[in-house]
Amino acid sequence: MKKKKSSGYVCSVCGYKSPVKLGKCPQCGSWNSFVEVEESETEAISIVTLESKNDKKFERIKTGINEFDRVLGGGIVKGSIVLIGGEPGIGKSTLILEVLDRVARYGNVLYVSGEESQEQIMMRAERLNIHNKNIELLTEQDIDIIKETTLSRKPLLLVVDSIQTVFSKDVEGAQGNINQVKECTRILIEIAKRHGISVILIGHVTKEGTIAGPKTIEHMVDGVFYIDGTRNDVLRLFRGVKNRFGTTNEVGFFEMGEEGLKEVQNPSLEFLSGGVLKEGSVITSALEGSLPIFFEVQSLVTPTIFPIPRRVASGIDYNRLLLLIAIIEKRLRLKLGGFDIYVNVVGGFKPDDRTNDLAFALSIVSSYHEKPLMSKPVVLGELGLSGEVRPTVGIERMVKQGKSLGFENFVIPKFFEGKLKVNDVNLFFVSTLEEAKEIVF
Ligand code: TYD
Ligand code: MG
Repeated sequence: MKKKKSSGYVCSVCGYKSPVKLGKCPQCGSWNSFVEVEESETEAISIVTLESKNDKKFERIKTGINEFDRVLGGGIVKGSIVLIGGEPGIGKSTLILEVLDRVARYGNVLYVSGEESQEQIMMRAERLNIHNKNIELLTEQDIDIIKETTLSRKPLLLVVDSIQTVFSKDVEGAQGNINQVKECTRILIEIAKRHGISVILIGHVTKEGTIAGPKTIEHMVDGVFYIDGTRNDVLRLFRGVKNRFGTTNEVGFFEMGEEGLKEVQNPSLEFLSGGVLKEGSVITSALEGSLPIFFEVQSLVTPTIFPIPRRVASGIDYNRLLLLIAIIEKRLRLKLGGFDIYVNVVGGFKPDDRTNDLAFALSIVSSYHEKPLMSKPVVLGELGLSGEVRPTVGIERMVKQGKSLGFENFVIPKFFEGKLKVNDVNLFFVSTLEEAKEIVF
């Protein structure tokens, strides 16, 4: 709905709107800057009812970095303000520079850093091979100057790295304190909402997992996203904890390499060696957030030459490994005392999930007997001390996801018999380690 005739006045310096002509702009302080706007330029308030179907899609800027766009719900929503948090050194500035580079293909973008010098940022850009004249760089901490620059440059995207380094002269206290962070965020929200400029705030997360000055701004912004390092060295997870324009179920995967963050299209493939299963290898799955990751565990069991046999664990807790070995010795009556045992997770993934107990155990048994598992099953379940196979959280999701990755056979706890709604896969229900062994060899 458009208003007829004159619909108001707007400050020609900063875009502030007013129904009447003002002498001095309350927003940017300019004098005699108000001009009347044409009827077509101003949209009047339009009301929709909840009954009416609102097809209006948010206007989004797609960066083309799929893992990023997907987590945001399909790209950066125009005029939205989101917070991206993560521990120092996790790769926030790296990711954001790549995002800026992509968005800068559509117009100018503004990168405000209160944290690093121009030289440091140039060096990062050099490393990422980013040379883009549409990326405008401002090293500044004063929110008034940031605002002024933003309104005069009118970028498609404004990034403030980080929100803890900016300050307002109107607020007491040093940068990073809650009132400063809150006030600066409020000003940036105003820029986003009033001028349709998309804003990304970078926030440092402390070890306790909170963005400093934190919860106070989480509810103010449209979305909150985190970059996590997994227990893995190079893998980075990007996920939302709040998203007004999408779900928070999506997780994006990146790998930190020499030339920045690379998208990982199918994280499971990183951890599966592919081809036929060799003896000692077993496929299993663990949850990363809500996403099941599939990976391969491997064992090597060889006669020892040491008085005390070696146990080497990579990707599994050492004490957990000792416990699993004890369960195997007791329940399957294998004498493992004369053997060294090496256990490894392919690709350096470090699952922290009891769901993988049975897989680790069968992998050791497989290597010991020098027999590969038949028909490449996905093995899921926790092992109890008496060798019983226990259910864990997420197994149904893992089976569904596994099916979509092409796995056909699943060895899962008996507990799930009759409970899973997954078609066209073979489910083998087991209640003990002995039963599982019978089924897979
Ligand atoms: P950075 O983006 O500066 O992290 P944050 O902004 O979250 O503090 O990146 C941190 C680390 O990433 C740094 O130790 C260097 C490393 N890195 C790479 O491994 N490859 C690269 O291409 C870049 C730019 C950084
Ligand atoms: Mg940084």
